[in-house]
Amino acid sequence: MKKIIVTATALVAAAALSLTGCSSERGGGTGAGTETEGAKGFAADASIGVALPDKTSENWVLAGQLFTDGLTKAGFKPDVQYAPASNTVAEQQNQIQAMVTGGAKVIIIGAKDGKQLTTQVQAAHDAGATVIAYDRLIENTDAVDYYVAFDNFKVGVLQGQALLKGLEERSGHAAPWNIELFSGSSDDANSAVFFKGAMSVLQPEIDKGNLKVVSGQTDIAQTATDGWKAENAQRRMDSLLTSSYSTETLDGVLSPNDTLARAIITSVKQAGKTVPVVTGQDSEVESVKSIMEGEQYSTINKDTTLLVQQAIKMVGELQKGDKVDVNDEKSYNNGKKVVPAYLLDPIIVTKENAAEAYANVPSLLEIVKSYQQ
Ligand code: BGC
Repeated sequence: MKKIIVTATALVAAAALSLTGCSSERGGGTGAGTETEGAKGFAADASIGVALPDKTSENWVLAGQLFTDGLTKAGFKPDVQYAPASNTVAEQQNQIQAMVTGGAKVIIIGAKDGKQLTTQVQAAHDAGATVIAYDRLIENTDAVDYYVAFDNFKVGVLQGQALLKGLEERSGHAAPWNIELFSGSSDDANSAVFFKGAMSVLQPEIDKGNLKVVSGQTDIAQTATDGWKAENAQRRMDSLLTSSYSTETLDGVLSPNDTLARAIITSVKQAGKTVPVVTGQDSEVESVKSIMEGEQYSTINKDTTLLVQQAIKMVGELQKGDKVDVNDEKSYNNGKKVVPAYLLDPIIVTKENAAEAYANVPSLLEIVKSYQQ
C-alpha cells in the first residue's frame, strides 16, 4: 500500500515538473517501468519483436534486414514486421499485440504514429516485456522503457546550418535569401524535433531579415508533409512556385529528408526554374548521387547499421539482467516521462566532405569515389 502511495506521489511530482517546463531526471516511472531496469534477465534464445512502420525511406528497409540478421546472430528469435502503407496504424497495433501474445521479451518499435500505441505498449508491459522506441519516440505513455535514436534535434540544427552555408556558397548573391520550409509527417514525433532544431538556426536569420519565407508559411502545420510522401511535397512545392515565385527567385528549401528533397527538386525543374539549395536526411542512394552531381546540397548520415547495433546491444543487456547503457536522461519527454535514451551523433554530408563522412559506409563511399575519378 505504502509503495503505491509513493509511486502516485512521484507521478504527481513528475507531472508538476513537466508543467513547469522542467524535466525530471528519470520521468515518472511506474512499477512496471522500474522492473525492467536490470535485475531480471530472460532466456538467451527469447523471441524479440521488431515492429517497423511503412517503408517511407531506405533506412526502414535496411533496418528490417539488419534486425533479422543481428538478432539471429546474437541467438534470439527475431519477429520483424512491417506495417503495410495501406493501413499502417491499425496493422502496427495488431502486430505489436501479436508479439505480446507470442511472448516477446523485448519489443522494439519504429512507430508509424507515436501517439496511437499507448494500449499496445501498456499490454506489452503488463505481460512483462520491455519496450524500446526505435528512431521515433512513442508518446503519452509510461510504458516505454528506452529510446534509441540519432539525436534528432541535432539533425535539424545541422540541416538549418547547411541551408545557410549552401545559400552563401551557391546563391550567387548576399543576403537576403528567399527560402521555403518543409517538415515531415505530423504523426511522426521526429518531425517536430527536426523542425525545431532547424528553426533554432533559421528563425534568428528570419528575424534579422537575412532569410525571407516568401509564402509566409513558417508554422509547422503549414509546412507538414502528410505520410512523408514525395507526391505531397511535390504538390506543395508546385503550388508555392505558382503562388509566390512568379517574379521572385527561390534560393533555398529546408527539406527534412532525402525523399522529399528529390520531390522538391523535381517540382522546381518541371517549372523550368533553377534548382535552389535543398537540404535532406538519410543518405539515400539517389540523393548521394544528386549531391555528387551538384544538385541536392546536403544530406545527413544516420548510419542505420550503428543504430540497429545499439538497439541489439540493449536487448543483450536486458537479456543478462545488466543495467542498460543510456547517455541521455533529460531530452526526450514523451508527455508522461523523460524516456532514458541512447542517442547517436548524426553527420552532415555535402559534396565537399562526402568521402570522409561515408568512410565507414562502403556502399556509399563507392558511389562518392565513382564521381571523384
Ligand atoms: C526518420 C527519418 C525518415 C523519416 C521518413 C523519420 O522518423 O527519422 O530518417 O526520413 O522518418 O521515413
